[in-house]
This record gives sequence, structure tokens and C-alpha cells, in this order.
Amino acid sequence: MLAKIKETAEYIRGRVSTPIPTTAIILGTGLGALVDSIADKQYIPYNEIPNFPVSTVEGHSGNLIFGRLGDRPVMAMQGRFHFYEGYDMKTVTFPIRVMHELGIKTLFVSNAAGGMNPEFEIGDIMIITDHINLFPEHPLRGKNYEEWGPRFPDMSEAYSQRLIAHAKDIAKEKGIRVMHGVYVGTQGPTFETPAEYRYFHIIGGDAVGMSTVPEVIVARHMGIEVFGVSVITDLGVEGIVEKVSHEEVQKAAQAAQPKMMEIMTELVNRF
Ligand code: HPA
Repeated sequence: MLAKIKETAEYIRGRVSTPIPTTAIILGTGLGALVDSIADKQYIPYNEIPNFPVSTVEGHSGNLIFGRLGDRPVMAMQGRFHFYEGYDMKTVTFPIRVMHELGIKTLFVSNAAGGMNPEFEIGDIMIITDHINLFPEHPLRGKNYEEWGPRFPDMSEAYSQRLIAHAKDIAKEKGIRVMHGVYVGTQGPTFETPAEYRYFHIIGGDAVGMSTVPEVIVARHMGIEVFGVSVITDLGVEGIVEKVSHEEVQKAAQAAQPKMMEIMTELVNRF
């Protein structure tokens, strides 16, 4: 495991002609076009990276991108790995271990999610303030490497309060409506039944999705600061649960992309 991580990081260092940035971004479902805002791009397709899993889902292109977002050098993952694709949690979070090896200090994550909070509307941006981990396997299960982090990591501030405060200020200045709330991470691949949406809301969730939580746990394990946003692509609000499809999720995410990009770009450049 450690040797593979070092090998992958070494390969990436050799492929990139500019210094490796300290900021990374993970682009979620329907949000991959955000790379259009990245200047001076260098692409590394996942299938060329040793030990890297290959993304299998439509809407997840599968490239590692190095470039500049505004004035900041960034590394972006266009496409991520999901537990429902059949990967175990060590594989899902492998890129985060590689990021740490490369010297990443701050991670920005995005995803598409279903909204359970009755105040939410489709197309809303939700700043993630906290999460509830409902995945059936924990990414830190197994041997702990002390050089990464402690056996029993603290999760009292999984999402950086400092970055949340900056993001709220930015949204206000730019007149962008942002919500905030708790993201429930679940394995999928089914969307929720009305009873499941209700349950996730009762236990404290505002939005639900099939990603993010494993990556955030592993990032926090290694002391990487995290900021996360969900784009609300469908509603699981009691009484108005409608049919939902991956195509609709992608479409709604794409429509909300510019708003998310504006906040992300400003935040990356300001913090
Ligand atoms: N549930 C789970 N995952 C999702 C949803 C949802 O309603 N929308 C987008 N990803």
C-alpha cells in the first residue's frame, strides 16, 4: 500500500512540468466541466497513472488535471471513485493518500446530492458543515500508519470552519444563494425511497449522496483541511419525492455549475 502510493506520487511528479500545488479539488457528478475554468492545463488520464483505479460512471471523465484556477495552482480530479462501483474503501480513497504524498494541504470536494431540507430548491448550493457516515465499510479500517495520522482520529471539525465562513462571505458579496447543512454519505447505487429520505432527515441530514464522506475522512486523518459543497439536484422532501434519474442529476448539476465555480474560484484564491 505505502509503496504503491509512493510509486504513484513519483509518477505524477515526473509527468507534471510545474511545481505540485498544495490545493486539490474533486469534481463531482455533472461538475467536471469546471475544469474549463482552469488555465494552463496539463491532463493525466487516470488510465495512464500506475495503481490508479479507473472511473466507470458516465459523467465522470477520469483525468487528473494540473493548472491554475485564478492565480492559484491547483490539482483537480475530474471524476472520482465510488464504493458502489465495486471498489473497496482503500481504493476509493487511494487518490487522497497520493495527494497527501504529493504535499496537498487543502482539499475542496464537490458532489451532487438529494436535498431533504424543505427549504432547499433544485439547483441550490449547500456548503457542507458536517457529515454522517452511513457507508458499510470504514476507509480507516485495518492497519493504521502513524505517519499518516492517529488510530482514532478526531472528527469534531471535519469541514473547516474557517473556509465555511469565507465561503459564506463570498456568496453574500456575489449575491449567490447558498444553503448549508449536513451531508449523509450512503453507499447507493439506488436513490432513496421516500421513507429513507425521511429517515435521513430525521437523523440530522440535509442532503444525501453516494460519495465524499470516505475521501473527507481520509483527508482529515492526514490533517488535510477540507471544504465541501453539494449541488442539490433533486429533492427528497416529505410529500414531494419525485422520480429521479442519473441524467436529471447530471443536468441539474451542470445548471448549477457556474455558481459553484464562482464560489470555489474566489475561495481558492482568497483563503
Ligand atoms: N440520493 C443519493 N445520491 C444522490 C441523490 C439522491 O437523491 N442525488 C444525487 N446524488
